[in-house]
Amino acid sequence: MHIAVIGAGYVGLVTGACLAHIGHRVICVDNNQTKIKRLQRGQMPFYEPGLKDLLKRHCKLKQLSFTTSIVQATKESTAIFIAVGTPSKKDGEADLTYVEGVAREIAQAMDSYKLIIEKSTVPADTGQRIRRTIQMNLPLRFRKGGVATLEFDVASNPEFLKEGSAIQDFMHPDRVVVGVESVKAQRLLRAIYAPLKATMVVTDIRSAELIKHASNSFLAMKISFINAIAQICTLVGADVVKVAEGMGLDSRIGRPFLDAGIGYGGSCFPKDVDAFIRLSEKSGYHFNLLKEVRQVNDEQKAAFVRLIEDKLWIVKGKTVGVLGLAFKPNTDDMRNAPAIDIIELLQHEGAKIKAYDPQAMANAQKILKDVHFAKDPYALAKGCDCLLLLTDWQEFKKINFQRLKKLMKHAILFDGRNLYHDENLPALGFEYYGIGRRVGITKKE
Ligand SMILES: NC(=O)c1ccc[n+]([C@@H]2O[C@H](COP(=O)([O-])OP(=O)(O)OC[C@H]3O[C@@H](n4cnc5c(N)ncnc54)[C@H](O)[C@@H]3O)[C@@H](O)[C@H]2O)c1
Repeated sequence: MHIAVIGAGYVGLVTGACLAHIGHRVICVDNNQTKIKRLQRGQMPFYEPGLKDLLKRHCKLKQLSFTTSIVQATKESTAIFIAVGTPSKKDGEADLTYVEGVAREIAQAMDSYKLIIEKSTVPADTGQRIRRTIQMNLPLRFRKGGVATLEFDVASNPEFLKEGSAIQDFMHPDRVVVGVESVKAQRLLRAIYAPLKATMVVTDIRSAELIKHASNSFLAMKISFINAIAQICTLVGADVVKVAEGMGLDSRIGRPFLDAGIGYGGSCFPKDVDAFIRLSEKSGYHFNLLKEVRQVNDEQKAAFVRLIEDKLWIVKGKTVGVLGLAFKPNTDDMRNAPAIDIIELLQHEGAKIKAYDPQAMANAQKILKDVHFAKDPYALAKGCDCLLLLTDWQEFKKINFQRLKKLMKHAILFDGRNLYHDENLPALGFEYYGIGRRVGITKKE
């Protein structure tokens, strides 16, 4: 099928590349000219494992191309995915300016049947609004007395991929959710995804939109739940890693998303939780449970900083080394990374910050001020009063702690992701603090 994907960001580019990979002819559109020029030259705008190769392969095969023209992409395609950003407004509501703008441009370029699919995360009712926007902006020859005479469909197909494993997630989804209003739209979406042989949940548009919000909010809730448990573990002298293991083996609960840490971040959870709270409020339901999820998440970063302050006693003038900056491993995405808040809080207390991340330093440099970026974990450790582990990159598991210790002023490690929970760092002479573990564990139990 000829498919357009509008918005060549994390979701749009992965979607475009994967749809090309399963046999469709895809044209990716972005209004950022520099980004499109770079993509046409084979340069990646961000880091995502495997994506560069996939883009290169399918561009070469002419299955995939890039343009800044929505007009060209609309005319060439039957199905059009909208994958532009939906950032938060000041009050937390999703800002749908880009979605509306794109819907208008698609409508103006339409001259035959199109299936317009929202892939961006949007509030329940956006499908209806897109439909109306398209009706109102069709070329005059396709509007008779306010009624559209050109057939088109709007559908919802929320995306559940995770940055860092986005291609794997797209190619092997737990489910594909589609919200449709017509048999034709359903048939086209089934044809698009048929090669994946995935379970498809077909529903109305509003329910599909809500599935995405409810899923992300539930996952954020699971993270905040285990973080609240971690706080209790610290107070009563229990170990959250063991508690999570014991809980997670219950198939009704499941182990994923029960890793205590410094809280969730990224471009989705914080924004989507805010948007769902606002959407519920506007609809007449006060989602206090979700407000608490957000509150626990904020508190988790503050509690981590308090732990550091407590153990260092005086933070002012101390050199703190930060291992990991991205909001999670295998990405260079710094959007709402917990590292930003933690570093800024420590800087406010007078700490000198050094940092290292395998992929995210270029993006971090645009956000963080007065941070010395090191070339590897050992250059980072040199002269540090303590280290903070903020992103659980697997390569940090391979660190030579004997070597690290010799370089540090004081061998203190605050493990914000419990990455080293089963390693005996105290036996190597480290003062080690995890999250929700017994404070100041000094020997392996
Ligand atoms: N990043 C994720 O992991 C993820 C996962 C699932 C869903 N989502 C949702 O998908 C949507 C996109 O997220 P993202 O992370 O890919 O965003 P992004 O910011 O990385 O990409 C959005 C792209 O849209 C482009 N754009 C904006 N207005 C445009 C216009 N008028 N015409 C053409 N291009 C335009 C921007 O230039 C940008 O390249 C959001 O709603 C997000 O919540 C994101």
